[in-house]
Amino acid sequence: MKHIPVLLKESIDNLKIKPDGIYVDSTVGCGGHAEVIASKLSRQGKLICVDRDEIAIKEAKKKLVNFNCEIYFFHDNFYNISNICCCADGILFDLGICSLQISDCNRGFSYINDGPLDMRMDKRDRVTAFEIINNFPEKALNKIIKEYGEERFYKLIVKKILDYRSKKKIESTLEFADIIKNAVPKKILYKSNPAKKTFQAIRIFVNYELSILEESIIKSSSILNNQGKICVITFHSLEDRIIKHSFKKICLDDKNFDIVTKKAIYPCLEEINSNSRSHSAKLRVLEKK
Ligand SMILES: C[S@@+](CC[C@H](N)C(=O)[O-])C[C@H]1O[C@@H](n2cnc3c(N)ncnc32)[C@H](O)[C@@H]1O
Repeated sequence: MKHIPVLLKESIDNLKIKPDGIYVDSTVGCGGHAEVIASKLSRQGKLICVDRDEIAIKEAKKKLVNFNCEIYFFHDNFYNISNICCCADGILFDLGICSLQISDCNRGFSYINDGPLDMRMDKRDRVTAFEIINNFPEKALNKIIKEYGEERFYKLIVKKILDYRSKKKIESTLEFADIIKNAVPKKILYKSNPAKKTFQAIRIFVNYELSILEESIIKSSSILNNQGKICVITFHSLEDRIIKHSFKKICLDDKNFDIVTKKAIYPCLEEINSNSRSHSAKLRVLEKK
């Protein structure tokens, strides 16, 4: 599955790239946004590519071989951005997972193709989806699926998980997706797969995606040069809420910052029709004056 970068033009336009500047793609993924940034940089320009997924870094390296600017790669969490780099003219966050990760069923992100229950973006992390689904107590599972999945049938789903795992371990993604499908009321007509929200919840927990977000944005603002921009693309309201709040907090604490996007930027209809992954995307931009 080819990864199509979301809100590409909008995010690149908002970065207002200076050819000799320093730019960080903190979620380089398959390098879709990074290659457009690189194409706008001169020999003096620098592009720093970060991803917590080693395979994404390998893919991005392949994509970014033929550019003039200096390019550096870091297999790291963007939470460490201020250790990776001390100043930047623009920082991009394109949150969530990449098609590369979903389409490799061995990674355990897919509820369509079978694979082991893993879901770690960084293989160095210890906790896998298998461990959470098979070992976490009812109360913790309720909280994860309710809060991170915004799944209204969380209690029914957790009851089914507990019942199933009392007989055997839940081993694979399709086995888990089936448990969810059998737990939710049959009468409800789902717009998307009934397992989608629960998978999202477990993935967010495995990768502690939300708990590091606010601090990562604040750290990013601390390395921004004057006229520098932070562009963040989110894919669900939980992420978007944190970004909105973090931007406000940064502006309250430091009058040198301004929110460029009083309202979030959405993909146009044409993009939504040609790339279904973009339908829930939003872009928010912060700048240092
Ligand atoms: C939506 S994809 C980025 C796609 C990329 N912009 C492109 O056009 O190819 C998100 C990427 O962010 C990475 N990621 C998610 N959370 C991260 C974190 N905390 N630190 C570093 N990388 C992260 C994921 O591994 C994934 O490769």
